[in-house]
Amino acid sequence: MTTAPYPLARFRRTRRTDALRRLTQESALGVDDLIWPLFVIDGDDEAQEIPSMPGVQRLTIDRIVAAAEEAAQLGIPAICLFPNTDPALKTEDCEEAWSPDNLSNRAVRAIKAAVPQIAVMTDVALDPYNANGHDGLVRDGVILNDETIEALVKMALAQAEAGADILGPSDMMDGRIGAMRRALEAAGHRDVALLSYAAKYASAFYGPFRDAVGASGALKGDKKTYQMNPANRDEALRLVERDLSEGADMVMVKPGMPYLDICRAVKDRFGAPTFAYQVSGEYAMLTAAAQHGWLDRESVMLESLMAFKRAGCDGILTYFARDVAKRLATER
Ligand code: PBG
Repeated sequence: MTTAPYPLARFRRTRRTDALRRLTQESALGVDDLIWPLFVIDGDDEAQEIPSMPGVQRLTIDRIVAAAEEAAQLGIPAICLFPNTDPALKTEDCEEAWSPDNLSNRAVRAIKAAVPQIAVMTDVALDPYNANGHDGLVRDGVILNDETIEALVKMALAQAEAGADILGPSDMMDGRIGAMRRALEAAGHRDVALLSYAAKYASAFYGPFRDAVGASGALKGDKKTYQMNPANRDEALRLVERDLSEGADMVMVKPGMPYLDICRAVKDRFGAPTFAYQVSGEYAMLTAAAQHGWLDRESVMLESLMAFKRAGCDGILTYFARDVAKRLATER
């Protein structure tokens, strides 16, 4: 890289007009980069506000289908479902997680019947079904790894059977990607993609999400024995390498904005399809500040999402997906 000395080089030349700025722009944010997370509830024709996520609602399956139709019309390639399960169905064994007729699986079937062209991603983790709010089975206060994997495999197969295109294991147990991949192959689900939450940190930015899925009350303790220490970067690379070697098709870094260095490192090292999750707390921060008039919602939405592209991400899970898709559609 060479740069002439001033005044031969003047960086402001390429910033002078919109045309020159567009011409020299290094990253681009497009509708193809978006995965829209949606919260599902039981019932008919109902939308519930989530106080800690202004502008995001929990939707009944009929409304989710309508949202999927809207997403498809806007060109959003994928949606991701998170069920808010009836507390009466939450147990220590989490059997509801692999019931073919649980809320998530019913929603997948309804969406694939009505909007087959949109990719449907599901969450593989036990927390929506667990009486204690953890992503894994708990015995004597310990989150069990290998027993949890057996449960996750059953859950993954039920989701694949329901028609999910992408499974998103968000549980952080060791060995789950390989176990799921082998089980999917054996069951004939050869084309179901695994988007591994490979580098998922034990983060305080998930707070509003736990409200949204109704897990905050149930959760005892924290998730630090399975989710990553926010201080670690080398470990993130080792986890991504491990998950790719076990058969993950795509990998994710989560949360997003505080972990952009990890996104860049992962993309540079492996060149695999790399995603980031702009999580509930990030959305809450930006929207709360915007509600106070302290930040401009649309500008920070676009700037924060562009940052993921600059950091090397191929796509972003974001609660802004619909809004940003609409905005991108009106540009030029
Ligand atoms: C749970 C799960 C979480 C999120 C996605 N899947 C929360 C957690 O790990 O406690 C967080 C998403 C968000 O904050 O937007 N398996």
